Amino acid sequence: MTSKRIVSGLGLLLGAGLAAGQALALEGDAERGEAAAGTCVACHQADGSGMNVPGGQSWPRLAGLDAGYIAKQLHDFQAGRRQNASMMPFANMLDDQQIADVAAYYSQLPATQGDGGDVDEAVLARGEQIAMRGDWDEYIVSCKSCHGPGNQGVGGTFPGIAGQHAGYIESQLRAWQAGERSNDPQNLMGAIAQRMSDEDITAVAAWLASQPAADE
Ligand code: HEC
Ligand code: HEC
Repeated sequence: MTSKRIVSGLGLLLGAGLAAGQALALEGDAERGEAAAGTCVACHQADGSGMNVPGGQSWPRLAGLDAGYIAKQLHDFQAGRRQNASMMPFANMLDDQQIADVAAYYSQLPATQGDGGDVDEAVLARGEQIAMRGDWDEYIVSCKSCHGPGNQGVGGTFPGIAGQHAGYIESQLRAWQAGERSNDPQNLMGAIAQRMSDEDITAVAAWLASQPAADE
């Protein structure tokens, strides 16, 4: 945890800003969270693994994600800062305490491995390049410069994306590209997604999905 926190000065700056904003965050209780998550399993599954739906709307893995990140997303759906027709009604059913509780619950479930679909080696190699080294000709920063050395997440600000489902990673990058996801305060992801081609989005999503997911 401590070593992950020093990954980037940018991360520290953002983290500090968010921590101040979350000063009133409630303490979550995983046991209460399990009860409140009864309606979530239809899509996110009992083990929090979600499901890859290639070309469709994938359900993200929640197991092992950072509790602060999960809570932020649920508040963003409630406030309409993040929009999704399937997810918003379920976020709206939760009060602030239940958000803290389900976040605590999912964050302590062991991280599960995502599904990347069937892609060939050349595509995976391009995906690895973008994720680990970036592409300076296209002004694309490596994903790991914010998401951490193994892209496994840094605190509550930068979610783990290694081992997440490829269909979900893809859909989020396309949503940022189209300006449909704009809940990232500094729009860091919007700026990156806008520089990515369709092929690069597919490649980086497939490669990340093939990488080990970790508990944050
Ligand atoms: C009908 C299916 C469905 C149900 C039920 C559902 N979700 Fe979701 N959830 C989704 C979809 C689809 C997304 C991705 C939304 C998007 O593309 O922005 C999502 C995204 C999320 C995210 C964001 C994850 C991330 O990595 O950013 C969180 C957190 C979440 N759901 C929590 C919950 C909780 C807690 C419940 C139960 C109270 C729940 N969901 C019920 C479909 C569902
Ligand atoms: C400059 C920092 C930065 C870089 C570089 C970066 N990201 Fe992100 N990323 C973020 C932040 C911040 C968030 C969380 C946004 C939010 O709070 O909703 C995020 C969220 C995401 C998510 C959503 C995960 C989820 O669970 O919903 C995906 C997918 C993602 N990034 C993919 C990528 C990929 C692929 C790359 C490399 C091409 C990349 N990111 C590079 C800062 C960055």
